[in-house]
Amino acid sequence: MKIVIVGSGYVGLVAGACFAELGHQIVCVDNNPAKIGSLREGVMPIYEPGLDVLVMRNAEAGRLHFTDDLGEALINADAAFIAVGTPPRPTDGHADMKYVYAVAREIAEKATGDLVVVDKSTVPVGTGDEVERLLRATNRPFRFSVVSNPEFLREGVAIDDFMKPDRIVIGAEDDWAKGVVSAIYSVPGFDKAPILHTSRRTAELLKYAANAFLAMKITFINEIADLCEAVGGDVRDVAQGIGMDSRIGGKFLNTGPGYGGSCFPKDTLAISKTARDYRVQLRTVETVIQVNENRKRAMALRVVDACGGSVRGKTIAILGLAFKADTDDMRDSPSIPVIQALQDFGADVRAYDPEAMENSRGILNQIHYCSDAYDAADKADAVVILTEWNEFKNLDLRKLRAKTSGRLLVDLRNLYTEDEVANADFDYWCIGRRATFQREAEHYLAAE
Ligand code: UGA
Repeated sequence: MKIVIVGSGYVGLVAGACFAELGHQIVCVDNNPAKIGSLREGVMPIYEPGLDVLVMRNAEAGRLHFTDDLGEALINADAAFIAVGTPPRPTDGHADMKYVYAVAREIAEKATGDLVVVDKSTVPVGTGDEVERLLRATNRPFRFSVVSNPEFLREGVAIDDFMKPDRIVIGAEDDWAKGVVSAIYSVPGFDKAPILHTSRRTAELLKYAANAFLAMKITFINEIADLCEAVGGDVRDVAQGIGMDSRIGGKFLNTGPGYGGSCFPKDTLAISKTARDYRVQLRTVETVIQVNENRKRAMALRVVDACGGSVRGKTIAILGLAFKADTDDMRDSPSIPVIQALQDFGADVRAYDPEAMENSRGILNQIHYCSDAYDAADKADAVVILTEWNEFKNLDLRKLRAKTSGRLLVDLRNLYTEDEVANADFDYWCIGRRATFQREAEHYLAAE
């Protein structure tokens, strides 16, 4: 089938490359000609493991094309996917739909025949209705139908998630559109994924509900981690133990510095705003947002506590800037409030991240960027692990300790055991398993 994908960001690009891999004819459209030029040369606008190889292979095979000309792309297309951003509106936190609606209008103007328009962007309930209204308002002599087909891929493992989804959700309002989108997924490769057919509005809501639930799961375990510190428990064992209950499940129970990224913060906010518009209050989600927000800066206070109550004039080595491993994405990364707080408290920050330093430069100031973890640790009073990159899981801790001035290792991702760290002559501060540390942290939190 010929499929047009509008928006060559994370979702659009991964979806385009994967659909091409499965044998469809794909045209990826973006209104940024520089991005299209780079993609044609095989240069990816984002870091995602395996994406460059997949794009190159399918481009060379003639199944994947890039253009900034939507009209040309739409010739003989069976479906057009909308995969543009829906960032929170700075004024009120509602998802900003201007990019989605602009694309819808342009598709209506430039369509060359009947077309199924598929929303892959995460969009508030009712967006499909509005997109369909915009398409029909142009009075073009073609049949348009809008489908919601939310995407559940994670950055860092996006290709695997796309190719082996737990489920495919198709929210359609008529049999023609339902048939076209079902056919796109009815190819060898997707045959193991269950397809859930729903109404369009249900599919739109389902996507937000999934992200809100996962954010809630993470926030829950983060609060249990705090309690473990207070009572002398070990959050890793609690997570394992509750996760063994198949009703709970063991995934997304890793405690950390709070969830970040381009999805959970934005989507939890958006669903709570939508709910309020419909006079419903999602108290659990609103609490999750607040608890997670507070947690990020509280993590900086843990570093302050570990440093004996003050970081003024101290050098802190930060390992990891990206919001999670295997991405260069800094959007809503917990590293931002943590580093800014440490700087507010008078610390000098040295930092290293395998992929995110370039993006970090545009966001964080006054940081000394380093060539690797050991370079970052040079004469540092404390080393703080913020992102769970594999290369931070296998550090030569003795070598690291030989570089530092102080002996503090603050591990906000729980990557090490106390023994491993003690053997390298570090004092270890982690999360969810240190009662003394937690009591001290609470003292400072109360004082704030
Ligand atoms: C998330 C969802 O997991 C995807 O299913 C969804 O498609 C995507 O949002 C989206 O809506 O586009 P992503 O933001 O790429 O994917 O990253 P996650 O792996 O979900 O991690 C999000 C945040 O939660 C990160 O800050 C991560 O460090 C944190 N996290 C995750 C934890 O703190 N603990 C965990 O156990 C898991």
